[in-house]
Amino acid sequence: MINPVRLGVNIDHVATLRQARDTRYPCPIKAALLAEQAGADGITLHLREDRRHIQDSDVWQLKSLLHIPMNFEMAVTEEMLAIAEKLKPAYACLVPEKREEQTTEGGLDVVGNFRSIQSACQRLQQNGIEVSLFIEPDFKQIDAAKESGATLIELHTGHYASLMQHSKSWHEALAQLQKAATHAHALGLQVNAGHGLHYHNTLQVAAIPEMVELNIGHAIVAHAVFVGFEQAVKEMKQCLLTARPL
Ligand code: PXP
Repeated sequence: MINPVRLGVNIDHVATLRQARDTRYPCPIKAALLAEQAGADGITLHLREDRRHIQDSDVWQLKSLLHIPMNFEMAVTEEMLAIAEKLKPAYACLVPEKREEQTTEGGLDVVGNFRSIQSACQRLQQNGIEVSLFIEPDFKQIDAAKESGATLIELHTGHYASLMQHSKSWHEALAQLQKAATHAHALGLQVNAGHGLHYHNTLQVAAIPEMVELNIGHAIVAHAVFVGFEQAVKEMKQCLLTARPL
């Protein structure tokens, strides 16, 4: 039997809306618990250095309430490593972070920052945390990810998602994701993907046989404005099931 692709729901943008007015609502914890009820397989949240959306208190509250794995997105900094070591999420996903960016732009340069990433993987793994590296679908980055000791990668789907659907370049980007997934899987890495995925471009990525989990946030939060959070999660979950019927 082929397993369905797992859905990791990213709740950052519920917090973005809250921080826009510095109110107590909408509550990202409530969103995470609704997502859990609606069939999400994991919850992702990114505690950024500038705390522009998720706050430290969100992370700790959620840790005590979640029944599904927490995927803690973090930059490779001493501050975040110290928090992760205390928090002990099921997964830590290492991402590049720039203050001026709108969202995470581009994957982690594992080749160029090999030593610091290798050492971060070791520190996190010593605390029982599985480490994922958010990287472009590039063979050199995948090979370096394997060498660093990480056991998972998350392929950056941002380029794919930015292209006109069914255009030549879109098909090429999808083929590149497929090749990268096959290569990483052959090295023994678990392959996840995410960024920019929505209700119309996720099916094709979910159909990649090596894909284990997709992390999706913005599109779900945006759709929830109209249909409610649980329904938005259910519809995305259905999309993943359609890609790989049981
Ligand atoms: N994966 C990673 C590593 C990310 O940084 C993000 C964005 O926070 C996502 C997945 C989700 O992207 P989106 O919000 O575009 O679905």
